[in-house]
Amino acid sequence: MILDTKSVGVCDAIENARAHITGRNLRYYVYTFGCQQNEADSEKIRQMAENMGYLSADCSESADLVILNTCAIREHAQMKAMSLLGTFKSQKKKNPNLVVGLVGCMAAKDEIVKNIKAKFPFVSFTAEPNMLHRIPEAVLSAVTEAERTFIIGEDSGNIVEGITQKRTSAHKAMVSIMYGCNNFCTYCVVPYVRGRERSRDSSAIISECKELVRGGVKEIMLLGQNVNSYSSDIKFPELLSRIAELEGDFIIRFMTSHPKDTTSALIDVMKKYSGKVAPYFHLPLQAGSNRILSRMNRTYTRERFWEIVQELREKIPGISLSTDIIVGFPGESEEDFLETLDMLKICRFDLVYAFMYSSRVGTAAAKMDGHIADTVKSDRLSRLFEIQDPISYEKNLPYLDSYVRVLVDSAEERDGERIYTGRTDTNKLVHFTGDAVSIGEFISVKIKKICGFDLIGDAVK
Ligand code: SAH
Ligand code: SF4
Ligand code: F3S
Repeated sequence: MILDTKSVGVCDAIENARAHITGRNLRYYVYTFGCQQNEADSEKIRQMAENMGYLSADCSESADLVILNTCAIREHAQMKAMSLLGTFKSQKKKNPNLVVGLVGCMAAKDEIVKNIKAKFPFVSFTAEPNMLHRIPEAVLSAVTEAERTFIIGEDSGNIVEGITQKRTSAHKAMVSIMYGCNNFCTYCVVPYVRGRERSRDSSAIISECKELVRGGVKEIMLLGQNVNSYSSDIKFPELLSRIAELEGDFIIRFMTSHPKDTTSALIDVMKKYSGKVAPYFHLPLQAGSNRILSRMNRTYTRERFWEIVQELREKIPGISLSTDIIVGFPGESEEDFLETLDMLKICRFDLVYAFMYSSRVGTAAAKMDGHIADTVKSDRLSRLFEIQDPISYEKNLPYLDSYVRVLVDSAEERDGERIYTGRTDTNKLVHFTGDAVSIGEFISVKIKKICGFDLIGDAVK
């Protein structure tokens, strides 16, 4: 059963609980770990909580409903969430009416849910990522019947439309266009926790974007584990063009792309709509050795990857590129690793997100031979950044003394001065000063200094 949280029944139940428990307003707090997909899901969770009658809390200490939206991508992410979860044991003692839930990717793993059932009695519910729409039902059982709910293994493969997001930003919006993943990269837990790939109807996506732009949104981020393998009645390049054709002054970003789906058709659309589609591409390489790429089941070679990089740079001058790298994949020899370093020198990415391989239960790589010692992995990681950091800095140098368009995100007072922060169309972080700057607007900034990965400048009229 799916509860309509807007229905009077649910609100009444929470209202009764509120009156019964304390007579004061009940509040919620949501923690988010992991990727943008989770950020977007947390916006949905916040909306569900508000529909139930909860108000937002400033911190978890003052909340009656605490939800951890978790990530399972690496062991470290899981450990962080589990130790945070542990801290609610004492809060629950102080406030027996506290409802704690653990949802998201960790909640799709049997061993974790078993552990929570047995050892974390103060956790009222868990919900796997594709079952978040059932959170209100679980909260309700906890509040009214003090019952625990564990929603796992129930993913129907359908997309539940119509859950609105309580958007955190007025000018930037995340729009999920597809869910799940079919690629089964051998190291990755995502296909297991998020299920099979499924794409939303293009008409639903386009009308959502239209609505957002009409409401003043300046940046739309199209989200999916594999955005560019989006496929419904139309494919991703067509979807991108249709969104780009919407009237209005806004920019479109998308992530994450898989090299296998990065076609000339897609790059041509980016070129055609260069005013609307950001000249930025996150293209995860993962490894520079063909042998390791094949063990990872990435289905492209370093040669093909380099071709894509060249095509992007030829067709979209000034484009910035970022990538993901995993060091210490099982069987990665020193020679393989040197090939990754070599690819970084060849491709010269603007930014690299690099991770030490983390073995995930149930994945193919976990069962492979040749697991690498942590000391070797961390040594490789620091050697990687020794190569990449100067490249990232050098990639920023051409911005010096140039004028860039920046979407203003935030402002803070520093030493009596108001410093604004925003991003260029190429996704570079810019800190700048200026008069009459408004958050959520595009502004022109003259870059006067490069500070590591960031640009420093002054707003110009
Ligand atoms: N769908 C995206 C993002 C996946 S998760 C993609 O295909 O790129 C983000 C990044 O985490 C991955 O690109 C990969 O570099 C890293 N990652 C995934 N599984 C990992 C693991 N088991 N150990 C270390 N890093 C991992
Ligand atoms: Fe994981 Fe690969 Fe799917 Fe990305 S494409 S989510 S790395 S399995
Ligand atoms: Fe983590 Fe799940 Fe995203 S595992 S990276 S939160 S899809």
